[in-house]
Amino acid sequence: MQRRSRSGRRTTVVLLVDKRSVSDVTAHNERSSSASEDGNIGLLGRQERASERVMSGMRPTGRLHLGHLFGTLAEWLRLQQRHDAFFEIADLHALTTGFSEPHRIAALRRDMVLDWLAVGIDPQRATIFLQSGIREISELAVLLGMITPLAWLQRVPTFKDQVAALGPEIATYGFLGYPLLQLSDIAIFRAAYVPVGRDQLAHLELGREIIRRFQHLYGGDRREPILIEPQPILSDVPEVPGIDGRKMSKSYQNALSIADEPTVTQQRVLTMLTDPQKVRRHDPGRPEICPVFTLHRLVNGVRLSAIEPACRAGELGCVACKQELAASINAHLAPIRERRSQLAMDPTTLDRIIDEGTERAQATAATTMRDVRSVMAVGLTS
Ligand code: TRP
Repeated sequence: MQRRSRSGRRTTVVLLVDKRSVSDVTAHNERSSSASEDGNIGLLGRQERASERVMSGMRPTGRLHLGHLFGTLAEWLRLQQRHDAFFEIADLHALTTGFSEPHRIAALRRDMVLDWLAVGIDPQRATIFLQSGIREISELAVLLGMITPLAWLQRVPTFKDQVAALGPEIATYGFLGYPLLQLSDIAIFRAAYVPVGRDQLAHLELGREIIRRFQHLYGGDRREPILIEPQPILSDVPEVPGIDGRKMSKSYQNALSIADEPTVTQQRVLTMLTDPQKVRRHDPGRPEICPVFTLHRLVNGVRLSAIEPACRAGELGCVACKQELAASINAHLAPIRERRSQLAMDPTTLDRIIDEGTERAQATAATTMRDVRSVMAVGLTS
């Protein structure tokens, strides 16, 4: 996909067509490197060069759910196999809106990383780190702020939308700077690719523009750029519906969380809305508009071809259909939950993983900052 940026240059958005079935998502990490693991290598091979660094992050806002599992995390699992991957606990980003409860954000860090590890994010392959543990990120954000026109930040749609949704008290300097801080996360590691959702594309585009400005102002005639323009990787994951049929999201309270007890998952699935025209058990249903069917597609691939006609023919009632879905979700999550509870018993190891990752990431960040300080003529010369 080619898009034109404001400056008229072309940006390549790497769009991944991924037909992987969902059981592969968790099996992924258990497989060794093999050709079949990259069924989509044709597209990847041309655009996304392995070995180049990938960076992404998540704000610690609570337990992760099936939307994260089949969206972001499935993509991270794929990327950690082929790339030098950096995955960030974006606690400073969480503070931009959650500044009134900083201790809550700190407490949610571990929970989020437990979910990452349980699904197979592998600290041997990927660097898992804490954003606020790397002061260089904040320093880079201050320096890039010097060359970022206010109007560029004010133009970002998420800022206006979020202020409208969450109220004027979040219209802070820090929140306006959200995309700039995100750029600092990426640029400090000189990451080539950033897997993001569609909603984050505007942030990336703004970031690329700031990097171009930086290079223009301070790049001089060096052969290697000091900071590089990151490319977004957009994965083509279908939207995962929550139990009310809207997009699964913690803020809608419609999520099925990875770490829920199986009985909670079952109860929540049984409350799901189905096709409103299918009132009685023998009424014909329309799987294409039913969120229960969409979730079956993710966790119950082998049974789809039986469920679909049975629903349409009015042979399968919604209650039985939901019961089967709940069982399939619980079966899919069982090994993940098992690993999660084992990891949760050992917080020392968990903290060590985060500390070691942060140390590794810090070393890379420090190298970039030496160059940035030098061209912007700040800091002591020693
Ligand atoms: N803004 C991202 C989100 O809310 C999280 C994030 C922080 C991020 N830093 C990042 C994503 C760097 C990609 C790259 O989902």
